[in-house]
Amino acid sequence: SLPVPSIQEIVRNDSNSVPDRYIQEHKDRPQVSENLHASLDIPVLDFSLLAKGDENERRKLHLACKEWGFFQITNHGMAKEVLHKMKTAVAAFFELPLQEKKKYAMAANDLQGYGQAYVVSEEQKLDWNDIIFLITLPTEKRNFKFWPVTSPGFKEAVDQYSTELQKVAAEIYANLSVLMGLDRDGLLELLGELKQGIRMNYYPSCPRPDLVLGISPHSDGSALTLLLQDDEVTALQIKHEESWVDVKPIPNSLVVNIGDAIEILSNGVYKSIEHRAITNEKKERISIATFVFPDEEQEIGPLESMVDELHRPRMYRKIEYVDYLRQVLNRRMEGKAHTDIV
Ligand code: SIN
Ligand code: FE2
Repeated sequence: SLPVPSIQEIVRNDSNSVPDRYIQEHKDRPQVSENLHASLDIPVLDFSLLAKGDENERRKLHLACKEWGFFQITNHGMAKEVLHKMKTAVAAFFELPLQEKKKYAMAANDLQGYGQAYVVSEEQKLDWNDIIFLITLPTEKRNFKFWPVTSPGFKEAVDQYSTELQKVAAEIYANLSVLMGLDRDGLLELLGELKQGIRMNYYPSCPRPDLVLGISPHSDGSALTLLLQDDEVTALQIKHEESWVDVKPIPNSLVVNIGDAIEILSNGVYKSIEHRAITNEKKERISIATFVFPDEEQEIGPLESMVDELHRPRMYRKIEYVDYLRQVLNRRMEGKAHTDIV
């Protein structure tokens, strides 16, 4: 990837400027590109019911994954303090002076660290965000070289958040396993231990939210993504029936979405949905996206139980997950991934 300046630093130095490289083509701008579906809300599920094995709630999960690919969960059991500590730690990191943050800079061919993601050409329009990405689980894969020591409590906050969030992810996995015709631990047995990485996004306020994107439209290459977002600023939007729908924050809830790996495993029944984030004129925004993904050596393809030669033939070929990831990372984030269809 190519070096790009910090947008946070650009805004710090001049909060009125919108450099050319951030100005989207007319067709890609937030207000022109597509209709906005202001009145729709993505499904909300009660996680505590899913964890109890409630069949009605599991049916709601099925519909949410099939028709929306996105939902919010309440009653997930993670303490408010854990979420708050995580947000505070991330905010404190981004508040550091640039030289300090640069100590954790991504290397040219590494994904981990502080910087800007997915920059593949000089001509590419840039997203209005800075990030820090860390591999968080399994713990032996952590590379502490990229974990800021300068913000007090960062390591503890991330450690606690990632461990507790993995339990939530595992319960969703168990429910999806059952919905896809497997035992509760079916997906885990098939995919091996779940890996986890956390992308922490900082979106500065922007004088012209109509011209830029916080994050360009993309689908996630993960199995599942769990997002902790700002309680006040609405910015995440998902593609639903050809329109953009706002994901309105519910305080202390988590936003969950199906990633490409589950789309493939489910033979396309569950959808990995295109989404983007816009910016806010008055307020900066932090979001924390946790990706849960299969082992890299794992082969992923449609589950036998999700293939029906007559009514739902196999839609994807088998692919080693590492090869899939390579495809995802080598393209610019331009809309939905093109999962290979046989
Ligand atoms: C993401 O898609 O990774 C981030 C979305 C958001 O900031 O809400
Ligand atoms: Fe995403």
